[in-house]
Amino acid sequence: MLRFLMLLLFAILAVSINENRQECLKGVGHKLRPTQEKDLKECFIYKESSCCYAEITEELAHSPVIKVNTTYWNRCGNLSNLCESYMKKMECFYRCSPHTARWAHSQYAGAIQSVPICQSFCDDWYEACKNDLTCVSNWLMDWKIDANGENHCKNECISYSEMYVNGTDMCEKMWGESLKVSNSPCLCLRLNEMDNAVIKLMEANSRNSSSGRSDKEQDCHPKMELKQREEVEAH
Ligand SMILES: *[C@@H]1O[C@H](CO)[C@@H](O)[C@H](O)[C@H]1NC(C)=O
Ligand SMILES: *[C@@H]1O[C@H](CO)[C@@H](O)[C@H](O)[C@H]1NC(C)=O
Ligand SMILES: *[C@@H]1O[C@H](CO)[C@@H](O)[C@H](O)[C@H]1NC(C)=O
Ligand SMILES: *[C@@H]1O[C@H](CO)[C@@H](O)[C@H](O)[C@H]1NC(C)=O
Repeated sequence: MLRFLMLLLFAILAVSINENRQECLKGVGHKLRPTQEKDLKECFIYKESSCCYAEITEELAHSPVIKVNTTYWNRCGNLSNLCESYMKKMECFYRCSPHTARWAHSQYAGAIQSVPICQSFCDDWYEACKNDLTCVSNWLMDWKIDANGENHCKNECISYSEMYVNGTDMCEKMWGESLKVSNSPCLCLRLNEMDNAVIKLMEANSRNSSSGRSDKEQDCHPKMELKQREEVEAH
């Protein structure tokens, strides 16, 4: 535990020194650098350091979400509340997270690549959406886009459970190359407020490759804390 805390402290120090170098993804609607955004209507976990402007979160603040900018979410009917909550997490992460530039796509500006996502998070997401309907496998590429930039189905609507085999399949297909299910059960993102600590740990680990992947117990401390935090929040 002490070791983890020291590592975390080291990481926080290192990150705060680098803070002013932090940049946003060079994509549509992203800021140049993350700044505080007090009036977010959703995506609140990013309000201290946000790459999105409050405006884009307005459409996410109502349930059911009808559309975000020019992309309709309800082409196969409204999503269930739980499924929608996962879609929101992803939308918020992509648009607002101050960390996405770390995973900027090597070829496509504004895209992200191989963000290490937790297996269990994808499984829960799949479980939440399995009875909802979709007409696209890849939400970024498979739509017919009209002259106004609005999305339309090319294929019939089927359930998520028909579209994707399991959570891994879903996470690694729905957003193209954006997400990659991590081999680690804890050095991975859940698109929640604990990601900050996990990312700091990843940065510390990659700075010090010799301590790298060997110490499993050390790796899993954030997971344990995360669980406790989630249990507290659930009540
Ligand atoms: C909204 O969509 C239009 C058309 O696709 C695009 O030009 C614009 O950059 C988008 N805005 C945001 C904030 O994504
Ligand atoms: C979707 O939600 C909207 C807003 O609550 C509602 O007006 C509409 O009837 C719903 N559509 C379906 C197909 O349930
Ligand atoms: C998910 O499905 C793929 C493809 O069938 C399979 O290779 C993989 O083992 C499955 N993963 C889990 C965690 O069940
Ligand atoms: C870096 O690795 C060395 C050797 O494994 C270890 O002694 C040290 O505690 C590590 N430092 C951090 C910050 O992880």
